[in-house]
Amino acid sequence: MTGPYVAAIDQGTTSSRCIVFDSRGAVVAVDRREHRQILPQPGWVEHDAAEIWAKVQAVVAGALAAAGLRADELSALGITNQRETTVLWDRATGKPVHNAVVWQDTRTSGFCRELGGAEGQDRFRRSTGLPLTSYFSGPKVSWLLDRVPGLRRRAENGEIAFGTVDSWLIWNLTGGADGGVHVTDVTNASRTLLMDLETLQWDPAILEAMRIPEAVLPEIRSSAEVYGRAVGRLAGVPVAAALGDQQAAVFGQTCYAVGEAKNTYGTGSFLLLNTGSRPVVSKSGLLTTVGYRLGGEAPVYCLEGSIAVTGALVQWLRDQLGLIRSADEIEALAASVPDNGGAYVVPAFSGLYAPYWRPDARGVITGLTAYVTRAHLARAVLEATSWQTREVVDAMVQDSGVPITALKVDGGMTVNGLLMQHQADVLGVPVIRPVVSETTCLGAAYAAGLATGVWQDLDELRAQWRQDVAWRPRMATEAREREYRQWRKAVERTFGWCA
Ligand code: G3P
Repeated sequence: MTGPYVAAIDQGTTSSRCIVFDSRGAVVAVDRREHRQILPQPGWVEHDAAEIWAKVQAVVAGALAAAGLRADELSALGITNQRETTVLWDRATGKPVHNAVVWQDTRTSGFCRELGGAEGQDRFRRSTGLPLTSYFSGPKVSWLLDRVPGLRRRAENGEIAFGTVDSWLIWNLTGGADGGVHVTDVTNASRTLLMDLETLQWDPAILEAMRIPEAVLPEIRSSAEVYGRAVGRLAGVPVAAALGDQQAAVFGQTCYAVGEAKNTYGTGSFLLLNTGSRPVVSKSGLLTTVGYRLGGEAPVYCLEGSIAVTGALVQWLRDQLGLIRSADEIEALAASVPDNGGAYVVPAFSGLYAPYWRPDARGVITGLTAYVTRAHLARAVLEATSWQTREVVDAMVQDSGVPITALKVDGGMTVNGLLMQHQADVLGVPVIRPVVSETTCLGAAYAAGLATGVWQDLDELRAQWRQDVAWRPRMATEAREREYRQWRKAVERTFGWCA
């Protein structure tokens, strides 16, 4: 390992991790801790932001100890995070005023429907690049201001701060109630449904429509600059980057050229395609989002296909159905049968995201016969991830007019060779995993290192990217398209299940 060293915090939906990288982008040490998923009623998902902050502090300490480094040996710290999840806190006490409302939470579906009026989901699309749905932060903020007694008045008085998880962490890292900086980066801001994609500022018309006082909002900054210096255990370390986790993965996969795409398989899956310096408005159910912005440079935009449930379906099979004891058992179980036995699982737990955006959808299992075993179901669970990805890729090709020739992948599920082979089969293109598969953290570290002079430019970072495995398609075209038709029939069964 060769210094200088850069640390990245990845605060994700199910866990927080801290990774220390050396100057070649190699992993020096990792620490990871899970936090509670609070599920008060069907469709609602919350996190305790104070617990998250405690876990983040613990993983930073753990990673530094494992690396054998002192804080003052770190050149920079980058943050990456689950996006859209909404935290409101009291500026004076530093305490959250409610549990964080998580991106998957559907409680604001009715609010979004009403707000959309005659224009429906497209009401704010031109400004924000996003459909008006419960996935994004703005409606969650509005819901909290309405439901927590006295909160709207306190928000208007400037007593309350809103932030996505990046803001919450940066504020705490830089001193919290004692002088913490209240900022967010453009990528996270682009997921709030409150930012204008052209001006990169909060959109006053949307704030008014959602009745969100400006006084709660953080300042929007670039993804790579020194926001402030940490206090406490990391005292003095520059907090020098923030990117939403999917944008960080784009950066870590070095998708710096127009047309380069990556898919990250986590709780959900998120496929992002670099479309360059102009936002492209989707006609096929994709999101337009900011990919990254380095200091004062022009922003880079992406088209994104967001899939709410992929890895979370494996957890469901384990925790709710008890069909496997640990997530890694699924590969052997699925491989014990040659196919899915005719079963398809569509995990529309939070409605369906891209390319459908159907909040009324709920999950289904189709094609059940007495022949179907738990092994077939395990296979259908894995295949749900690759078919959902195929639908997003089709939408991207339609929007951009550019066929994809290969897909760079990362995230927890890419250790599953059976799934990755099926992914290559159903896409009909090679699926490529890099040597450093921790691309989310790597992206945040790269951005922080660029902001502080550890690395000089994008070419230097690109030169560090190395391929590990490539899965090549093997399935016959006819079989692929036949199964795809079955999958789409199963998807149609999910529509209109709840109001
Ligand atoms: O948009 C939600 C996404 O950022 C969550 O990612 O990896 O925490 O499931 P992950």
